[in-house]
Amino acid sequence: MPELELKVRKIRNGSVIDHIRAGYGLSVLKILGITKNNTKPVAVAMHVNSPKINQPKDIVKVENRELKEHEVNKLALIAPKATINIIREYEVVEKMEVHLPDKIYDLIKCINPACITNTNEPTKPVFTIISKEPIKLKCNYCKKDIEEDAILGQF
Ligand code: CTP
Ligand code: ZN
Repeated sequence: MPELELKVRKIRNGSVIDHIRAGYGLSVLKILGITKNNTKPVAVAMHVNSPKINQPKDIVKVENRELKEHEVNKLALIAPKATINIIREYEVVEKMEVHLPDKIYDLIKCINPACITNTNEPTKPVFTIISKEPIKLKCNYCKKDIEEDAILGQF
């Protein structure tokens, strides 16, 4: 049995998010809205060896929940190479890649302290993607650019 399978067994039904940037498994949970209120079994493996790419990666397995495309696209911010596998009766029935959406709603904060989204006004942050590699976003309100390092730093 490969080393990885000893750590996290195969699941019967649900979703496997594979090839997550090493160390970002917990951020994936956050983006998917998996908190202490979640009652479905979830396994997170961090810094497991991936012989295929010869470098460590994280994996998240969510049982009994099939992720939808619109839910997974936000993951592209932190895990652009992630693969989403939908599992039914132990078989991979669908494989999805993640694609950055054009806009990011209410997920990251603007780095401009004076931005309206950082005041008491009830305005939620919205960013528009202006570059995909490296990722660069522009705040819809104050027009400040935010670079990949600053985005990763928020997770
Ligand atoms: N997996 C799982 N439970 C299953 C089936 C698969 O947890 N019942 C996991 C595998 O361990 C793997 C991922 O889902 O992490 C994708 O499975 P599979 O497509 O069989 O593996 P690979 O071919 O290695 O995938 P890829 O080519 O995307 O790397
Ligand atoms: Zn702003």
